[in-house]
Amino acid sequence: MHAFLKTGKLGAGPAGPGTSKEKEAKKKAPTPWVEKYRPKSVDDVAYQDEVVAVLKKTILGGDLPNLLFYGPPGTGKTSTILAASRQIFGDIFRQRVLELNASDERGIQVVREKVKNFAQTTVSNTRPDGKPCPPYKIIILDEADSMTSAAQAALRRTMEKQSRTTRFCLICNYVSRIIEPLTSRCSKFRFKPLASGILQKRLGYIAQEEGVDYDDGVLQSLIDTSEGDLRRAITTLQSASRLRVGESITCNDIYEITGVVPDTWMAGLLEVCTTDSYQKLHDYLSTLVAEGFSASQLMNQIHDAVVGHDRLSDSSKSAICERIAMCDNRLVDGGDEFLQVLDLCCVLMKELCQTHNSTCLDNQDQFHL
Ligand SMILES: Nc1ncnc2c1ncn2[C@@H]1O[C@H](COP(=O)(O)OP(=O)(O)OP(=O)(O)O)[C@@H](O)[C@H]1O
Ligand SMILES: [Mg+2]
Repeated sequence: MHAFLKTGKLGAGPAGPGTSKEKEAKKKAPTPWVEKYRPKSVDDVAYQDEVVAVLKKTILGGDLPNLLFYGPPGTGKTSTILAASRQIFGDIFRQRVLELNASDERGIQVVREKVKNFAQTTVSNTRPDGKPCPPYKIIILDEADSMTSAAQAALRRTMEKQSRTTRFCLICNYVSRIIEPLTSRCSKFRFKPLASGILQKRLGYIAQEEGVDYDDGVLQSLIDTSEGDLRRAITTLQSASRLRVGESITCNDIYEITGVVPDTWMAGLLEVCTTDSYQKLHDYLSTLVAEGFSASQLMNQIHDAVVGHDRLSDSSKSAICERIAMCDNRLVDGGDEFLQVLDLCCVLMKELCQTHNSTCLDNQDQFHL
């Protein structure tokens, strides 16, 4: 009866009310905003014009080459090929597209069996509903840079032999980890980090859709902390909105969530580095690390501060950057965070003090002259 009053229909069956409830629950279920605002069509993909132009031609009936997408995280690689495949195949997307990512087993055995078998099957150029569609399948190998060289090598012949029935789309962050023979079989597209104007527009749109209130400068701080990674920016915005329900988000919230070291701490560090006192530096860094800032974040910010420093000479900058690379490598290998930051800051102190002393001497010379 309740179902009848709601839907105006009788005999919806026992599953009737249950399914509508499920649907409602699904609608209300909180989805991560990155998924909610994932581009549904290639037209929604912002800033990656070359690849969008090629895919649009394919959707209109053109042929598709084997593709290799590479570029930094959160720039739209996975979204672009998924959106294009959905547009090309419509309802039969599941039958025509095989998507394998780093969470799937993709050793040489899987390439020999699963990928090869899928690639070998032939397909028609019409959908079950009679509409035309391209007579090939697409195999998406996401995060291909984590595939072993042997597995990549096993793809070479398959890619050539099945070129009549299958197109491959390899996606990776580091193109240097894809073997040369594979890259030469694909059209390469580099996905650029998104420009700040695009990020601003996209984040503003999402904030408006979700009814998020924010202070002036919040979007800019999201852009500054995301380094062209829209996924990171959207996730931070969502976390901040959860933190401040019914209130306005502030720039500090963004810095707090992203773990960025505040400017006052950075200025203090540079100041301590000019004192030429190891003890002071040690104490300052102990407090800084105790605050919970991550070493790699601190190193990134030291890098930016050094590169933009107006008094450090180029040779000093290069010495510091070399040490940043070494310490970063040691961190990746599991080195102690405090020791690595201390090591880097000792070099920073040496170079800053040298610069400081030579500037003082120059000034004295000028005075005598
Ligand atoms: N060019 C873009 N246009 C529109 N939205 C984008 C774009 N790039 C990223 N996004 C947003 O960021 C989210 C993540 O994008 P996606 O998964 O495609 O990144 P990716 O390049 O595959 O990253 P990764 O290298 O980490 O796999 C998407 O859900 C979407 O909301
Ligand atoms: Mg991806």
